[in-house]
Amino acid sequence: MLLREVDHVGIAVEDLEAAIEEYRRAFGIEPAHRERVEHQGVDEVLFGVGTSFIQLLGSLGPDTPVGRFLARRGEGIHHIAYRVDDVEAALAALRDAGVRLIDERGRPGSRGTTVAFVHPSAMHGVLVEVVQEGR
Ligand code: CO
Repeated sequence: MLLREVDHVGIAVEDLEAAIEEYRRAFGIEPAHRERVEHQGVDEVLFGVGTSFIQLLGSLGPDTPVGRFLARRGEGIHHIAYRVDDVEAALAALRDAGVRLIDERGRPGSRGTTVAFVHPSAMHGVLVEVVQEGR
């Protein structure tokens, strides 16, 4: 495989609007993208950092992955996403390496990407995502 770059670092926040404002004020940067991903229960905002992004994640409710993360662990780094050329090939390589996966197949992410998640138990406690541009 083929980890090309860090695509984004996802940060779970309690109050997305307040967090956006703090990032604006602290770094003098504007959001590059904003999207609600209903099936994942998140509102997300991306700030560009070089060719990567910082992704602020607000939950759409307590019974969502980010909502449960916030209740359990509070605000902080939620996942790290690596850019790959081909999510299905990345999943096949991970499977061959015996790595525990959350997603057996790629699924739609924001910005028209295809994404899949690797189980944190296989990644020293860090939720890892692989991201491919396009579907
Ligand atoms: Co992500």
